[in-house]
Amino acid sequence: MNKIHEPAGPMRDRCLDKDGLIRLNLNHPPPVPKTFDRIFADAFEDLLQTISPSSLVATHRWSGTEEDRSMGAEFASRRLGAPPNIDRVVLTHSTQAAIQMILPALVPKGRHLVVEHMTYPPVRAFAQRYGVAIVDVPIDDNGVEPNSFEVVCRNSRPAAIYLVTTFQNPTTITMSMDRRIQIAEIAKRYDVQIIEDDVYSLLSSSPIKPISAIVPEISWYLLGTAKSFAAGLKLAFVVAPNPSEAFRVFWPGVRATYWMATPISAALMSKFIRGGDDLEILAAVKKELGSRHELLNEVVGDRHYVANPGCLHVWFPLTEKHPSEEVAIAMKADGVQVAGSNSYASPAFHPPEAIRVGIGNPETPELLERALKIIRKHLPSGWND
Ligand SMILES: Cc1ncc(COP(=O)(O)O)c(C=O)c1O
Repeated sequence: MNKIHEPAGPMRDRCLDKDGLIRLNLNHPPPVPKTFDRIFADAFEDLLQTISPSSLVATHRWSGTEEDRSMGAEFASRRLGAPPNIDRVVLTHSTQAAIQMILPALVPKGRHLVVEHMTYPPVRAFAQRYGVAIVDVPIDDNGVEPNSFEVVCRNSRPAAIYLVTTFQNPTTITMSMDRRIQIAEIAKRYDVQIIEDDVYSLLSSSPIKPISAIVPEISWYLLGTAKSFAAGLKLAFVVAPNPSEAFRVFWPGVRATYWMATPISAALMSKFIRGGDDLEILAAVKKELGSRHELLNEVVGDRHYVANPGCLHVWFPLTEKHPSEEVAIAMKADGVQVAGSNSYASPAFHPPEAIRVGIGNPETPELLERALKIIRKHLPSGWND
C-alpha cells in the first residue's frame, strides 16, 4: 500500500471531548502511527490478496478459527512461557466481553466473586448485572493481601477471584512472584478459580510470570490487546483451565451476547502474531510510553506519585486535606479529566485519597505536557501542604 492517510476528524481528537477537555481518565496506549499504520496497512493489503472481503466477513468466527487460536496460543506463550493447547484458547471481542461470559459461568447463586478493594470498575457492574455477589479483599504494596484472602476464602466460600497482577488498575502495583505463589496456593486449597486479567503486562520491561502459569488447572488467563496495541482493535485471548471448560463457558450458543471477535480484527491480529509484527508494535509503544514517563518526571517530578515506565497509568496519592473528588473537580474545571480513587471502590469502602492519570491517551506529547502542567498546579507540593 503506497499511501498512509493522515488521521482525520475524531481520530485526531481522541483524547479531547467536544468541550476541549483533555481526557486523562482514559487509559489507552500512546499512538505510534509511524509503526502501527505501516504494519496495519501492509497486513490489510496482504490479507485481501488471500481472502475476499465477502468471505472474510461472511460469518462469525465463533471462538476463533484454528489459525486464530493457534496464534493466540503463541501470543499467550509470550507471558505463560509455553503455548497452551489450542483447545484451551478462545478468541473474544474484548476483555470485557470475556469477563461477562466467565463471571456468571463460574460463580453460581449463593457463592461469591472476590475482587481487589479497588478494581477495574466494569467488573462490579457486570457482577451486578448477572447477580454475582462480590466480596472485597484488601491489597497492599504487593497486591492482594494473602491473610485477608484466606479469611475471605474461609468465611465466604468464594467461587472465583478476579485480579490484575501486573500494573494493577488503578494502583499500578505489580504482584511479586512470592505473592503470586501464595495467592495461587490459597486459591487451590479453597477451590477458588482465578480470573487473571493480564491486559497491561505486555508493556512491562521486567515481566513476572502470571499466576495462571503456576496453577493453570484453576486459572482463566485473559490477554487483551486494548492496552498494548489499540483499544479499538477489540480482541482478547482467553486461556481456559482445560478444553471442556472453554467449551462450556464459550460454546457459541451459550448466551446471546456480543462476545465474539470481529473477523477483520481477528484476521489481522493472527497475521501480526505469525509475522512477529506484534513485537514491533509493542516495541514502538514501549518506547513512546518510556518517553512520556520522562516527560512526566520533568513536569511533576517534584510531586508525589507512583509510576512504572511500562505502565500506562500513574497513581497520585493525596491526603484527607486534599480529597480526590475535590482535586479531580478542580482539574476538570481547568480542562483536564482524571479519575478519583472512589470510582474503583464499592460505595461501602472509603478508599485512600488518590487520583489515577492515564498518560497514553493524548494524541501528542505536547498535549500531554499541557495536561500535566495543569495537573501539577492542583497537586499538593508536600505531605504537609
Ligand atoms: C484491567 C482492565 N482490563 C480490561 C480493560 C479493557 O479491555 P477491553 O477493552 O479489551 O475490554 C481495561 C481498560 O481500562 C482494564 O483496565
